[in-house]
Amino acid sequence: MVSFAKRMDGITGSIIREIFKLLADPEIISFGGGNPAKESFPLETVKAITREILDESGAGVLQYGTTEGYSSLPRSYITHIAQKKGLTNLKEDNILITCGSSQGLDLTARVFVDPGDVVLVESPTFLGTLQMLNTYQAKLVPVRMDDEGADINDLEEKVKKYRPKMFYVIPTFQNPTGKTLGRARRESIARLAEKYDFIVMEDDPYGDLRYRGEPLPPIKSFDSCGNVVMLNSFSKILSPGLRVGVAVGDPAIIRKMTVAKQSNDAHTSNLTQAIADAFLKKGLLPGHLAEILPMYTRRLDAMLTGIDAYFPETFTHTSPEGGLFVWGELAGGLDMPALLKAATSQAKVAFIPGQYFYLDPAAMGQNTMRLNFSAAAPERITEGLERLGKLIKNAL
Ligand SMILES: Cc1ncc(COP(=O)(O)O)c(C=O)c1O
Repeated sequence: MVSFAKRMDGITGSIIREIFKLLADPEIISFGGGNPAKESFPLETVKAITREILDESGAGVLQYGTTEGYSSLPRSYITHIAQKKGLTNLKEDNILITCGSSQGLDLTARVFVDPGDVVLVESPTFLGTLQMLNTYQAKLVPVRMDDEGADINDLEEKVKKYRPKMFYVIPTFQNPTGKTLGRARRESIARLAEKYDFIVMEDDPYGDLRYRGEPLPPIKSFDSCGNVVMLNSFSKILSPGLRVGVAVGDPAIIRKMTVAKQSNDAHTSNLTQAIADAFLKKGLLPGHLAEILPMYTRRLDAMLTGIDAYFPETFTHTSPEGGLFVWGELAGGLDMPALLKAATSQAKVAFIPGQYFYLDPAAMGQNTMRLNFSAAAPERITEGLERLGKLIKNAL
């Protein structure tokens, strides 16, 4: 057989995708996924908007479109989302509409990362981006995290030592830990990027899923030299299946990413961009968030209460103010992949062993787990945690 390209060396399907296959059993209460709740999708509204678009735009919306984005969506994003995040000086040339934030991340790496370039990543971090960066043959270097997210002293040390091309960071309700970087650290990251001239790839798919506390300004809002590229997404606030994301950056960077996208998929689907655009223009986003956030709050609260009630005291966990994940650590340790096997087969409950979110799963995060709280109703969450808690206590 013809050999695959070197860039695919060592890149296998995500272990998490394999775990997802275990979850097909409807009896299993799953804390393993990461999908937004399907009850959060505004199905009837999307149906009505779609009909309206097709009636009004006719065949136009079914034609090829421009790479930059469908007609007024970049402007609507600026007005209805970016300005509310404190990004007040954006113009259309700061925006590229992407196929989910996944494509924004990919295009950012594609235009900046050469084989062997160092990319610093939070440890642990989102597996999808680690895989993507590996396909660009980046040299990945972990940055330590504490309770508030990336440790800025460790970041600066690694920046000085490795002179990276890029730092990948999920500042708000991080996947997998649920941790959020404070305002001062956000500003420090922007200052370091300016001082040492590296790109900050700021991934923010969860920031608008805030259940309590005050919103924090994006790192991009502290960017005075254009080195921060921010990736946003409609996946968690509207629907992931629409595949609409937004990249925000300096016009020269956005231009380069646009050229890269031309040869990649020409443009994001016109129809789904038009749906996102109409949703914003009709002013539906605030009301929609007001509907879905209380549902997620109840699920998060059920998870935090259930962990405290049923897990051993040696299990410490994050208490995020938003997002979809709680991260836990069991002092003393336990074989988490073995626990997962027992959990799915005996207790009919699932989670993701935390080690898979590290660059070196054999050596890091052995005693950690990621628990997702968006997939089940509060009573099911409580029941699942009771089962999992029992199993952990028995295994100890
Ligand atoms: C941290 C992080 N970044 C990016 C993505 C990709 O999201 P999208 O659906 O916008 O491509 C996800 C999806 O779960 C994620 O957790």
